[in-house]
Amino acid sequence: MSALINEVVGNEALLAEQLVFEQIAADLVSQSWSVVLDGLPPAVAQPLFQQVRDLNDSDFDPAGIGRSQDHVHNSFVRRDQVRWIDGATMAEQVWLDWAQRLQTYLNRRLFLGLFSFESHFAHYGPGDFYKKHLDAFRPNGLERGARRELSLVTYLNPGWESSDGGELAIYDAAGEQVVRRVSPVYGTVVVFLSTEVPHEVLPAMRDRYSLAGWFRVNGSVADRPDPPQ
Ligand code: OGA
Ligand code: MN
Repeated sequence: MSALINEVVGNEALLAEQLVFEQIAADLVSQSWSVVLDGLPPAVAQPLFQQVRDLNDSDFDPAGIGRSQDHVHNSFVRRDQVRWIDGATMAEQVWLDWAQRLQTYLNRRLFLGLFSFESHFAHYGPGDFYKKHLDAFRPNGLERGARRELSLVTYLNPGWESSDGGELAIYDAAGEQVVRRVSPVYGTVVVFLSTEVPHEVLPAMRDRYSLAGWFRVNGSVADRPDPPQ
């Protein structure tokens, strides 16, 4: 009997996951971004929340802008602190597995050619922000698409009130009008095309925890492999 119940519960979780993935895919086709409330399964969110709750300030580093050699810290642009995820804990493995399933789903459904994923925890203290930006720039003809293709953000803030601020503001493609404000509520999942969707993190009144990740398309050229991060 309990085996049967496990199977039914397992199937329901699988079905719920497929519905979330399908909503993301459909939204990406129609508008380049997707917001799914309660999109992160509790079995993924819960261990991540426990891990982030147990981290100290010293476990995070100031977030930078740009990649490798031109990586700089600019506190006028962003003030969050980050911690990269390498799969060292069970929580991180469960998260990476979920992201991998999303990657596989979107590749099958939308032929995106996503081939790798990198992600970090982010902590915004009260007053911290990240000004309007794109996560990646469209390749010019010479760079063969070595870039972030799809961005994924999710939040770990139980009991977040709208008066706590800290919304993610999503802009239209021209970067002129805010088309959606997303409160960083526990379990909300946001996915968008990294080169197409300008966005901004507005200052929060209290500590704000999130995970941000990027799926890459393979832009390697023989003498210049594209490194993660
Ligand atoms: C980012 C980012 C959004 C958020 O890390 O690039 O835009 O809501 N994060 O945390
Ligand atoms: Mn961003």
